[in-house]
Amino acid sequence: MKPLRIEGLTKEFRLGLGRQRVVALDHLDLEVEQGEIFGFLGHNGAGKTTTIKLLLGLLAPTAGRAWILDRPIQDVSVKQYVGFLPESPYFYEYLTATEFLTFYGQLFGLTRQALAKKIDELLEMVSLTDARHLPLRKFSKGMLQRIGLAQALVNDPQVVILDEPMSGLDPIGRRDVRDIILRLKNEGKTIFFSTHILPDVEMICDRVGILVKGRLRAVGAVHELVGTAAVTLVEILVERLAEAGVLEAERLGGTILRRGNQVLIKLDDEKRVDQVLDLIHRHAGRLVSLVPHKRSLEDLFLKEVGVGRA
Ligand SMILES: Nc1ncnc2c1ncn2[C@@H]1O[C@H](COP(=O)(O)OP(=O)(O)OP(=O)(O)O)[C@@H](O)[C@H]1O
Ligand SMILES: [Mg+2]
Repeated sequence: MKPLRIEGLTKEFRLGLGRQRVVALDHLDLEVEQGEIFGFLGHNGAGKTTTIKLLLGLLAPTAGRAWILDRPIQDVSVKQYVGFLPESPYFYEYLTATEFLTFYGQLFGLTRQALAKKIDELLEMVSLTDARHLPLRKFSKGMLQRIGLAQALVNDPQVVILDEPMSGLDPIGRRDVRDIILRLKNEGKTIFFSTHILPDVEMICDRVGILVKGRLRAVGAVHELVGTAAVTLVEILVERLAEAGVLEAERLGGTILRRGNQVLIKLDDEKRVDQVLDLIHRHAGRLVSLVPHKRSLEDLFLKEVGVGRA
């Protein structure tokens, strides 16, 4: 059984009097495997929210089809197995955390007892047990995002769809959300989330799709996309390197930056590293540090975005 299968999903909007066409999503084909954390990456306006709204039946597709747990997304029974955190969740701010979760839990027909137990577990999971009787209007942004996640999990969904769950959060808030997502994976759930925050994707996703202007430009494991051994830049910091040594490093293709008695040599060809180390030695320089920079998902993302704009 596939948690998520998408075939040729397309959404066109028509705008204004001229009925100008905007293709928000262009023939998306994608499959998400059981137990996977899938990161759906794209810049503003790439079509992430449109995709998620289509999957949840909040928008009707112009073309294409999709299945959640092998059921067509139009099938209302699917909702029972899906948890959803919208991009800008709207909460009843005068409800307390417990009342809010109770309200959503009741929609799924949980008994009072089962629900009370579930709510305790969820509040614990998102570290809001102490805030259980606090009205939501007193919650910080990070707390709201966490209660939103708890809400998305109240029906113990198999598939969890989150639209930008880390946006607007500080580093600690982002880490909390990442930890919750990893915990869901450990429980065997499948998670599909959209974001434009690359380090979060690199840290927790099994696979990533990069969406550019409504088109999926790349999809694969983070290490496949980035290339495990793809070192693109090496920075070598040296102290007291004689001027002749600096010139030699420059001739080897290094970019030179001087800082007091230190010289930073940037190499975009890994193969030259040994030669540079050799010249440092010969010219009595002292090696301070050598840092290889791998090609990151960010580089890839920017390249794809660049292609998309061309
Ligand atoms: N209801 C709508 N009517 C017309 N155009 C729309 C509508 N919803 C989205 N669009 C357009 O579709 C494109 C994709 O928007 P979408 O909200 O899916 O992007 P996104 O990737 O979620 O962006 P963000 O990172 O800003 O949330 C944009 O060009 C947007 O203007
Ligand atoms: Mg969006």
